[in-house]
Amino acid sequence: MQTNLTDPFGRTVEYLRLSVTDRCDLRCFYCLPGDYRDFSEPKEWLTFDEIERIIGAFSALGVRRVRITGGEPLVRKNLPVLIRRLATLPDIEDLSLSTNAVMLVRHAAALRKAGISRINVSLDSLHAERFREITHGKLDRVLNGLMAAKRVGFAPIKINMVVMQGVNDDEIENMVEFCIEHEFTLRLIEPMPVGDTGRNATSHYLDLQTIKDRLARRYTLIPGLMPGGGPARYLQIAGTRVNIGFITPVSQHFCETCNRVRLAVDGTLYLCLGQDHKYELRPLLRQGISDDGLKNAIIEAIAIKPEKHEFRDNPGQIVRFMSMTGG
Ligand SMILES: C[S@@+](CC[C@H](N)C(=O)[O-])C[C@H]1O[C@@H](n2cnc3c(N)ncnc32)[C@H](O)[C@@H]1O
Ligand code: SF4
Repeated sequence: MQTNLTDPFGRTVEYLRLSVTDRCDLRCFYCLPGDYRDFSEPKEWLTFDEIERIIGAFSALGVRRVRITGGEPLVRKNLPVLIRRLATLPDIEDLSLSTNAVMLVRHAAALRKAGISRINVSLDSLHAERFREITHGKLDRVLNGLMAAKRVGFAPIKINMVVMQGVNDDEIENMVEFCIEHEFTLRLIEPMPVGDTGRNATSHYLDLQTIKDRLARRYTLIPGLMPGGGPARYLQIAGTRVNIGFITPVSQHFCETCNRVRLAVDGTLYLCLGQDHKYELRPLLRQGISDDGLKNAIIEAIAIKPEKHEFRDNPGQIVRFMSMTGG
């Protein structure tokens, strides 16, 4: 049987985003509707055994890196237990986590001990009132979570900031200074038309090239390099250890180098963030598929990975919310 996953466009898939819940303790307006209650039933959620089997099959097929996401991954009970199990799988070299950090104070040490090597934290504003308007949450909890992550030794810590005109675009320099002070990496992200919430947020769309030009007037920016192999293009602020990443799925897509797929908590494998192509793995597991059968199913799924998203040409297309696939 083959030992790597190459799609019909010659791209090798070696990275998986694993959503461990579709629930969240925040309601970022560009991600989840404020009154959303229509979550999947826990009986539809993959169990830790099922997740471990799927990740094991992916690792046998060449996937080396897994990012744990959600919804908010820290609302999934006993998450460190799952992480420990995944960290001990042969061939998984890098386990990372995306979180809103609301509960990070309590969990940072356990996550690190369990095997998370890198952490990304969403933070769109450093003003408490504005933060509350964007997320319905409390900024001080997130800042305390970030400091706890720093204390237990996560490095680099990456801050994900969705940049929205008229919402938080006036805060980018502040956020850069905050990152210089704490040696965090900053990733600026264009809002994507995923779900009605994401589509509404694109009315605040701002081409990140203009931000790059703005920052270049204040800082000396030199080409940067970050571990992670994702879609961000990094620039380093000269004289500091701080990198700024620009994630531009809308203005400059990076589909030709896409190396990832996404597993939702219900076992649906999404082949592209901006398309509906998917493959259901949960029924196969619950019907008792063999390990080789599971690997063959994954190979079949990769064969339908689409060439690119259509965020610009067909922005009305993706109905599911970002919280299902975890960004
Ligand atoms: C869906 S969240 C899941 C993990 C965790 N709850 C968090 O917020 O980091 C992952 C990332 O997706 C981003 N995101 C959510 N909706 C988005 C949208 N419509 N456009 C761009 N990024 C979005 C968030 O800002 C976050 O950085
Ligand atoms: S972006 Fe993350 S924290 Fe915000 S609502 Fe979506 S899943 Fe929750």
